[in-house]
Amino acid sequence: MERSSVSAFLLILESGNILVSSWRIALASTTDRVTVAHMPSSPPAGRFVLIALAGVSLLFGLWAGTVRLGWALPTPSESFIVYHGPLMIIGFLGTLIGLERAVALDRLWPYGIPVLSAISALSVLVGLPGQLSAPPAVAASLLLTAVFFALYRQYPSEHFVIMALSAVAWLVGNIIWFENFPLFHAVPWWAGFLVLMIAGERLELSRLRRPSATIRAIFHVSVAIILMGLVLSMLELHAGVRIAGLGLLAIALWLLRYDLAWHSAQQAGLPRYMAVCLIAGYVWLAVGGILWLLFAQFFSAGPRYDAMLHTIFLGFVFSMIFAHAPIILPTITGLALPFRNAFYLHAGLLHLSLLLRVAGDLGLSLSLQQWSGLVNALSVLLFLINNIRAVKAGTAGPLRSG
Ligand code: HEM
Repeated sequence: MERSSVSAFLLILESGNILVSSWRIALASTTDRVTVAHMPSSPPAGRFVLIALAGVSLLFGLWAGTVRLGWALPTPSESFIVYHGPLMIIGFLGTLIGLERAVALDRLWPYGIPVLSAISALSVLVGLPGQLSAPPAVAASLLLTAVFFALYRQYPSEHFVIMALSAVAWLVGNIIWFENFPLFHAVPWWAGFLVLMIAGERLELSRLRRPSATIRAIFHVSVAIILMGLVLSMLELHAGVRIAGLGLLAIALWLLRYDLAWHSAQQAGLPRYMAVCLIAGYVWLAVGGILWLLFAQFFSAGPRYDAMLHTIFLGFVFSMIFAHAPIILPTITGLALPFRNAFYLHAGLLHLSLLLRVAGDLGLSLSLQQWSGLVNALSVLLFLINNIRAVKAGTAGPLRSG
């Protein structure tokens, strides 16, 4: 496929991100030995097992998060709620991101990433302590780092450097978890992992607009500030969080200004839905950066900590997931997932309830925080339901909207 037609395809879809990893390889270089990967006609069953394990982690993670908000739900064990973070970051996101990479690379060894992430999550769920659950996660993040080193050696592009740094951030966070430090020391690294991974993908896609050297330099300076903050957080947590917050704000402003999302917002259907999710996510990332700057001294527990974390993890990361699911899931599963207007329901519910949660956090209103946090979890469940319905509609017949 010609480079220009791939560009046009991408611009129309405004998919970006993890999206068409397969197409991405084709974009990497015209001189490279390029193979355009294809949508799998019949993906191996193992992929569905991994997706199911990621789903189980998500559901248990939501359950643990809801209990942590103070809802009196039954729990399988006392330690269960402590593992809300690892279940979300490693069990759900690590497994899915790893699986997407493995599918895109079309080799066996990268499947170690989702397999090890899922093993780590299962260890958590059966009640093993962090020192036994964390090693598979450490190994998964090492493998992810190796993936990006390998990709960079083959296609030396700046976005692979950013993604390799993202994998290293995940590795450091997982080692901190393994070393049994309080989890809030790992959290900035885990946030860095997800933000850098997504930002790297967006940087890659923004190449279609040929950004100037200055614009790219601003991106790299923002990444450098985030990384400086993360490193400093190991010596002086609050100062490090503050600096990382400045970097998060800078990269959010960069994305708001230079990302392709504005272009697709003018279109209809899926491109507009994705653009709305992307832009809303960037706004949440900016809000998160500001909160890290203002409230770094509370970065260990409590309502302000809750707001600092979930503006990033729910507002930014989940908004990205909502945006890209209709593109990524079909590439992994081979199942069509046609866009439906109903997707705006889970996205709207997420953003509205998060707005209320942050208001509750900052206004120190426990009941507002609890109710809106519960609705956050429900919005994620609605996302799953809407996606399953869309897949059913996709397999049943022609595209329908509604
Ligand atoms: C959707 C509903 C969610 C609820 C109800 C929820 C609830 C909570 C609560 C109450 C805390 C403790 C905050 C504190 O100490 O005051 C927490 C911490 C945390 N949450 Fe969430 N959360 C949700 C979603 C997420 C998501 C989607 C992610 C990641 C993608 C995430 C990652 C984390 C992490 C990393 C921590 C800190 C580590 C820890 O202490 O376990 N949460 N969450």
